[in-house]
Formats: sequence, structure tokens, C-alpha cells
Amino acid sequence: MHHFHYKEDQLFCEDVPVAEVAREVGTPLYLYSHATLRQHFLAFDRAFSGVRHLTCFSMKSNSNMAILRLFALLGGGVDIVSGGELYRALKAGVKPDRIVYSGVGKGEADLEYALSTGILMFNVESSQEIVRLNQVAKRIGRRARLSIRVNPDVDPKTHPYISTGLKENKFGIDISDALDQYRMASGLKGLDAVGVSCHIGSQLTQVEPFVDALRKLKGLIRALGDEGIRVDFLDLGGGLGITYENEAPPHPEEYARAVQAELGATDLTLIFEPGRVIAGNAGILVTKVLYTKATREKTFFVVDAAMNDLMRPCLYDSFHAIQPVRPRGREKVKADVVGPICESGDFLAREREVERLDPGDLIAVMSAGAYGFSMSSTYNSRPRACEVMVKEDRYYTIRKREGFEDLIRGESIPDFLTEDLDRGE
Ligand code: LLP
Repeated sequence: MHHFHYKEDQLFCEDVPVAEVAREVGTPLYLYSHATLRQHFLAFDRAFSGVRHLTCFSMKSNSNMAILRLFALLGGGVDIVSGGELYRALKAGVKPDRIVYSGVGKGEADLEYALSTGILMFNVESSQEIVRLNQVAKRIGRRARLSIRVNPDVDPKTHPYISTGLKENKFGIDISDALDQYRMASGLKGLDAVGVSCHIGSQLTQVEPFVDALRKLKGLIRALGDEGIRVDFLDLGGGLGITYENEAPPHPEEYARAVQAELGATDLTLIFEPGRVIAGNAGILVTKVLYTKATREKTFFVVDAAMNDLMRPCLYDSFHAIQPVRPRGREKVKADVVGPICESGDFLAREREVERLDPGDLIAVMSAGAYGFSMSSTYNSRPRACEVMVKEDRYYTIRKREGFEDLIRGESIPDFLTEDLDRGE
């Protein structure tokens, strides 16, 4: 369920016409529905109301501070993967004891920053990282709570770029080496091994891989217990998929039932790191048609959003539905919806049946709330889009559109190049 719907022949986000926001703030623009974000967070969180748990929104999917704040107010935490994400989360008001930190390459400065703020737990991904974290902890006189991110070697059956829990992936520590690493960690003075974690991939549309991973983690937790290493947290990562086209992923309730059935009665606190399932269908990218071009081969709709705004189609060939903001009941044409960037990979949709469009028409690129803005760049020196949150019949700009001056912030021309341009060589 989301709150983008047609009323009076045009697309609304909650009670606000999308065209009105576009007219007032310009395009391209990311538009999020507050009610959808809230509802998706609660649907996930409440699915686990029968067990002690913490829902840590995976902020790489959408790191806007207003959105983080909303989840913090609903009792959530965040999953971070960098010092920059930690900074954002703290600024947004997320409590450090609700933050878990994953990632294969945490630098020393970021480890120190996170440790000094007192985050809940580091999900460490290599033996060397365990040693490094211990050194940092001892140097600043703190103990670091850690879990080992285990690679359980299960196939999540998703796109290879976003599958992370297979032996050949760079993530985590092989489950067969994990016990040894826990032994090592528990001998180090700066560390407290408090959890076990995993994240097997993203956009999963079946529960079985999650259950398989959980079964393997349970075995590890038992083996740890036999050695007197008692953990309090079990972090199952994120990964639950959404409907972009006609996928039928399990509802969070179904996921929760499967997890709880496999886990049985437990004293563990569960941690989840959902991203896409919460934010994905809560946001759209609104863009305007600049030109239409028909060659003998193809029809192109050239729009003002590009791969720098939404990278998923060019990176993963992923599907995002294209909907007219003001449908006119025109005939359908098969077209490529492309951006202004100088690359053939710059498309938002290919060979797609869409209603015939004219310059000036607005379209909505659906399911763009996760890994949309957060993966955007300024490639081709295109200022990044603005982000707007709708709540009922009002809208709020939660990130203003960048300007040209933002593009050159931080750049400088060294002295040896500052001679008079008119003189030339
Ligand atoms: N936890 C960890 C450690 C992760 O690496 C990820 C995603 C998540 C949680 C959240 O996964 P989710 O619930 O959103 O599936 N850019 C790609 C997705 C990359 C996912 C990376 N890790 C895309 O646009 O599809």
C-alpha cells in the first residue's frame, strides 16, 4: 500500500497534486509520502512485536535527515556503513544506542568516531577489522561491542550485484571460520562480543533464503554457547524485496512468521536492517518531458531527470514503472524514456509502453524512494534534485535543489594556473 493515486484525473501524493509540487519547486524532484513511510516502518516493526527487537532502518537506501527523524520518532534505529552516515543519523536525532555499523572497509577514523559516540554494535567483517577495532578501543579507553557479520553461504536468488551472502562475495566472515574469530575476539581486552549478524542480499522475494541463513546462524550461536560465549543480539540484516513490476515478495508479517517459527523461544534481541521495503514504494521521481524524438527505429522521450538522479535502471537494468502525472487517455507507444546525459546507458525505461507524451508533460518514475536520491550524483555537472515530503494536504521541502555554486564548492585553482587568461601561452 502506498499513497500515490489518481484522483480527478491526475496523480496525487496523499492529498497533494503532484503537478502542483512540480510547478512550485521545479523538476526533477523526489517526492515522498509521509503516511507511506510511516505505515511501512510500522508494518515491519509491528510484525515483530512479539519479540524483543530493534528495527534499524538501512539509511543507505535513503539518508535524508527528515526521513531518519521520522523513524527515530517511531522508535527505530539505523544501520550505517560510514562515518558520514553516522554524522547524519546523529544530526537527525537518532540515539547512538540504536545504531549498528556494518561494512567491509571501516577506516580507523570512522571506527574511532563511532566508538566515541557509543553506538550499539559494530558488525565486523574481517579478522583484521577485529584487531583494528580492539586497537582503537584500547587507545581511546573504551570497549567496543561487536558482532561478527557471518557469511552463511546461502543464495538469496536476487540480482548478482546485490547478493551478498554467497561464499564468493566480499562480505562477512565465512561461517566456518566464525567460531575461531569469536574465540580470538573474546580474548581481546578492548572488545565485547555481543552479537551475531548477517545480511545476505537485497530485493529478496522469497523467505526461504532468510530462513536458511537463520538456521545456520542458530547453529553458530549454539556452538558459541558451548564455549561460554554468550551473545545478546542476533542481527538478520535487511533485504526484503518490494514490487517494482509484478514481483510478489512476502509481506513483513509473513517474513516475521517465518523468522519466529525458525527461531523458536529466545532471549536474544533481534535486530533488522530493512531499507527498500520501507522506503522504496514511499517515493517517486517526478520529471518533465523536454523533447520527443521519433527515429525510424524508436521513439524517445527525453526527460529532465537522468542516470545521475536515478542510477538503478542503468546500473542494474532495473524496472521502474512510468506513470503520467496527468493521464490523457492517449494511445500507447513503445518508447525509451531517456535523460540528457551523454551516455547511451542514460535511460529510465526502455522499450516501455507508455501513453504518448508531449514536451512539458510530467511523468512519475515509481518506486524510487530507496536507492534513488541516495545514489544520485552530479555527473555531467547536473545539480542534484530537491526532495519533498508530503504530509496529508501539505508539502515540505526536505532538501533544496542544488545550485551551480554547490557544484564547485571545495574546488580551487592552484596558483600556478592563476595567470591572466587573456594573455594565453
Ligand atoms: N544491511 C546491510 C549490511 C546492507 O548492505 C544492506 C543493503 C541493507 C541492510 C539493506 O538492504 P535492503 O533492505 O534495502 O534490501 N543499490 C542497490 C541495493 C544495494 C543494497 C546494499 N545493501 C539497489 O538499488 O537495488
